[in-house]
Amino acid sequence: MARLSEKFHACLHELSGRYPARRALLLPALHMAQKEIGWLPPDVIGEIAAALEIHPAKVVETASFYTMFNLGPVGRHDVRVCTNVSCSLRGAERILEHCERKLGISAGETTADGRITLHDEECLGACGTAPAMSVDGKYHENLDLLEVDRILEGLH
Ligand code: FES
Repeated sequence: MARLSEKFHACLHELSGRYPARRALLLPALHMAQKEIGWLPPDVIGEIAAALEIHPAKVVETASFYTMFNLGPVGRHDVRVCTNVSCSLRGAERILEHCERKLGISAGETTADGRITLHDEECLGACGTAPAMSVDGKYHENLDLLEVDRILEGLH
């Protein structure tokens, strides 16, 4: 039984005219599927593979390469703290540890109430305004611990 919506398949069909081959739609398909379901469970991986006429292993291979795709269940909010070089030089580890302590979880885990999944992220491309984190895709930059507290407390 199809798990992805008719809208998903209609969008994929509409996009297909812009790509030279059906398999080239994989990244947009992964983004749309994750937006719809929240993560990429095996049946959704299979549905994407069937829609693009590729092997499911190819879908998993691509999804597992990029940190923004979730291959396991996640919380309602997605918090990603960058710990790459620029952010690290400006205190990212302290920010990540602060998030872990405040949320009672380690990076890669989800709070027991399903509210937040915390990630130790690679470069977000906001190096000039480090340290940075993204929350549900929105960037927060030039962070300090007070700002991190304000952000986390605003997530329900
Ligand atoms: S190193 Fe953190 S945004 Fe680039």
